[in-house]
Amino acid sequence: STVVADTGDIDAIRRFEPTDATTNPSLILQAAQREGRRERLAEIARQATDIDDALDAVAVEIGSEISSLVPGYVSTEVSARLSFDTEATLARARSLIERYERHGIGAERILIKIASTWEGIRAARQLEREGIHCNLTLLFSFAQAQACADAGVTLVSPFVGRILDWNKAKWPDADFSGDNDPGIKSVRRIYEHYKGHGYKTIVMGASFRNTAEIVSLAGCDRLTISPSLLDELAQSEDRLERRLTPVDAETSPPEPQDEAE
Ligand code: E4P
Repeated sequence: STVVADTGDIDAIRRFEPTDATTNPSLILQAAQREGRRERLAEIARQATDIDDALDAVAVEIGSEISSLVPGYVSTEVSARLSFDTEATLARARSLIERYERHGIGAERILIKIASTWEGIRAARQLEREGIHCNLTLLFSFAQAQACADAGVTLVSPFVGRILDWNKAKWPDADFSGDNDPGIKSVRRIYEHYKGHGYKTIVMGASFRNTAEIVSLAGCDRLTISPSLLDELAQSEDRLERRLTPVDAETSPPEPQDEAE
């Protein structure tokens, strides 16, 4: 699997040398509080027209620094507040790309991270047509994954940990260890479906709670991993050897799926 750092922490990115990096507003906030950065970011905030403008400016400032350190994509998120508004998501995504271009970074280096709601997926379909690549996040179900693939999005981030968290809260006595982990099962199903039907959308497992989950999904296209879990992996004997079986793409068109989960 291609390793992606789930962080805005520049020192961690230098240390782990990932191919890509993913950020979200909380990770950007943590990164913004780093020593030596406050003055510059305070200046950005002073020039901003409103809070959204300030948040985007800071995200792009940090994202630009990250993009000089990784060879691949940097994911920058459109505020989750806009998750149910296609037009607002489109406007923010285009403005983020314009900001990156002002920093000399082309759209081909950026993934606009958008929640996998119906409105978000519609926005992503349009953005992909405009040459703006998207990372569809907060993806918890097969139905969301199918809609993202049909919309031609560049990458999806199916979550592992939050699915497990929800199931554990609902069925506290159930055994969700190993292959019983519903988050792992969900990502595997999406991966096998995409590969079996020849979808080009990249599958990037996200929201990991421990290294065992990461190792179970080895072989997935990409895995986005926090610095603390990357540290644990580096220290452990576990290796990211392929656990997922690559599936030969079918030549016939995909069968309609029963979405009842
Ligand atoms: C990655 O893109 C996600 O933002 C991240 O993995 C979410 O992880 P969490 O469930 O720990 O918030």
